[in-house]
Amino acid sequence: MADYKQHHGRSCGCCCLFGILWKIVVALIVLVGLVFLIFWLVVQPRYFKFHVTEADLTQFEYYPNNNTLHYNMVLNFTARNPNKKLSIYYDKVEALAFYEDARFANYDVITHMNSFRQYKKSTSPMSAVFSGQKVLMLNNEQVSQFNQDKSVGAYDIYVKLNFRIRFRLGDSISRHLKPKVKCDLKVPLNKSGTFTLFQTTKCHVNV
Ligand SMILES: *[C@@H]1O[C@H](CO)[C@@H](O)[C@H](O)[C@H]1NC(C)=O
Ligand SMILES: *[C@@H]1O[C@H](CO)[C@@H](O)[C@H](O)[C@H]1NC(C)=O
Ligand SMILES: *[C@@H]1O[C@H](CO)[C@@H](O)[C@H](O)[C@H]1NC(C)=O
Repeated sequence: MADYKQHHGRSCGCCCLFGILWKIVVALIVLVGLVFLIFWLVVQPRYFKFHVTEADLTQFEYYPNNNTLHYNMVLNFTARNPNKKLSIYYDKVEALAFYEDARFANYDVITHMNSFRQYKKSTSPMSAVFSGQKVLMLNNEQVSQFNQDKSVGAYDIYVKLNFRIRFRLGDSISRHLKPKVKCDLKVPLNKSGTFTLFQTTKCHVNV
């Protein structure tokens, strides 16, 4: 009988101890959650906003006989930091240009040579130059799409940018983040006699 009681009492103590530990763990989780929530509400961290403001395309010609694309395009961008409390370090930005799903050029927009800190609520310009020639194996369907774009005088060019940034709040700086930006552009060919204007295009910023 005594044996049974002792055993029973010990197992209850064990249960109570676990009960208290469990309550502490739950309280800690709630506390950490609250701290995060308050941080989020006060700082309201957001990514930058990205636009293509100018596109000057002076050459875009595909020759099916040697499968070569000759191109010359300058893009001007703006990056806006909408944050009230955070500044952004742009450490590295690389732009890749695609036509008909094929990458034809890339350009280092920001390197360690021109990396910079963008203060809160401000806008900064960036630009990319794509110039040269590239062998692309376009199929018949893609070539006819090219000819269609050519007759319209504007090309569906897709630009993807790989970022390497850090946020700064007061004196503390975050680790590196690598958002990707995607821009679907319709770029008119700038040839003498035609004045089709490029429309400022908003890009998608993905985490
Ligand atoms: C078109 O090209 C000409 C000469 O290269 C340049 O002066 C002009 O600014 C360009 N227009 C646009 C809209 O980019
Ligand atoms: C491809 O062919 C076109 C026209 O035949 C020519 O103008 C161009 O220079 C050629 N490109 C290369 C890289 O050979
Ligand atoms: C594009 O950016 C470059 C360099 O920042 C600048 O010199 C040029 O005037 C800009 N072009 C247009 C059309 O805004």
